[in-house]
Amino acid sequence: MIDIRQLKAPIFLAPMAGGFNTPELVAAVANAGGVGSFGFAYASPEAIDHALVSAAARTKGPINANFFVFPEVPSPPPERVEAALRSLNALPVDRRWDGSALTLPYVPDLATQLEPVWQQRPAMVTFHFGIPPAAIIEKAHALGISVGITATCVAEAQAVKAAGANFIVAQGWEAGGHRGRFGSTGADQEQTVLVLVRAIGECVSLPVVAAGGLMTGADIAGVLSAGATAAQLGTAFLCCPETNASVSHRTLLLDEEPRDTVFTLAFSGRSARAIQNRFIDAMQGKELLEFPLQNTLTAALRQWASCHENPEFQSVWAGTGYRDIRPLPAAQLMQVLDHELNAAQS
Ligand SMILES: Cc1cc2nc3c(=O)[nH]c(=O)nc-3n(C[C@H](O)[C@H](O)[C@H](O)COP(=O)(O)O)c2cc1C
Repeated sequence: MIDIRQLKAPIFLAPMAGGFNTPELVAAVANAGGVGSFGFAYASPEAIDHALVSAAARTKGPINANFFVFPEVPSPPPERVEAALRSLNALPVDRRWDGSALTLPYVPDLATQLEPVWQQRPAMVTFHFGIPPAAIIEKAHALGISVGITATCVAEAQAVKAAGANFIVAQGWEAGGHRGRFGSTGADQEQTVLVLVRAIGECVSLPVVAAGGLMTGADIAGVLSAGATAAQLGTAFLCCPETNASVSHRTLLLDEEPRDTVFTLAFSGRSARAIQNRFIDAMQGKELLEFPLQNTLTAALRQWASCHENPEFQSVWAGTGYRDIRPLPAAQLMQVLDHELNAAQS
């Protein structure tokens, strides 16, 4: 089983659900000595199998398959669906949306999604939003697959250790995309990545992969010196030519007049950090469905916006450091990060 303390480059490409992480991107990071991750949250078993085979043909380096631990979702009352649709249909776009995509099952079946993982055996599997059933962790270990789970506070990190995972992905407040808290109720401690890595290091003896707002080799050196074993970068890779980010998504990320990033529930029903746009503003205070039903409801709108290269109605996930994105091929970005990391450590 891989030991993440032995990586040639202590860098994980963050899993990014929504098809951003192509086999080419994953392989480029793994070939540079890091870990190439796929975000398979919403993917079908066939797509997962295809992506894993395709990446394995391009690299012998470590590949990580990432999944969401979806909550159980009760059927929403029809009047709430109608209210959520009314909010969408009040948007200033020349299209109307219906709720026809809201059919059971509301979430993918994790056991079925994992079947291609057990066949293809990537080096690791990671989980976001909670701890998967014990049988899944046991099966991964029996097949020599290392397991990582996101934690956003010390209590979650302790639960990750108790579940028998091999490493913790410590997600700081700066991180782009969905906040990986186990639940969505109760107060969020909102710890920055450095505070979180130090706090976990004091209480939990498990390797930590630090995530959130890390854009440069100096940022990586910072989390390593705080006790992390490796750093996980998502936003930093979003403008690599190998990603599937739309042109308008990239344009907004590279805009010379940068906007703020904010947490919003509006796209999916769960808190996620994105670049502020018209959709987020328009949905303030509006009726939303629970995660991931809101995600299903907004899928057609986001798809439409992406096809029309309209970034105002797409979920432009980004961490707080996005202004420092370098739109380089992934292999070159890995070289730059390695160079900067060495310089910061010498
Ligand atoms: C576009 C995007 C999609 C993401 N999707 C996932 C995901 O599917 N699974 C996951 O564990 N984390 C996901 N994340 C969060 C990352 O794992 C990581 O916490 C985050 O990218 C770190 O912050 P940074 O973007 O500032 O580097 C996503 C982040 C982004 C930017």
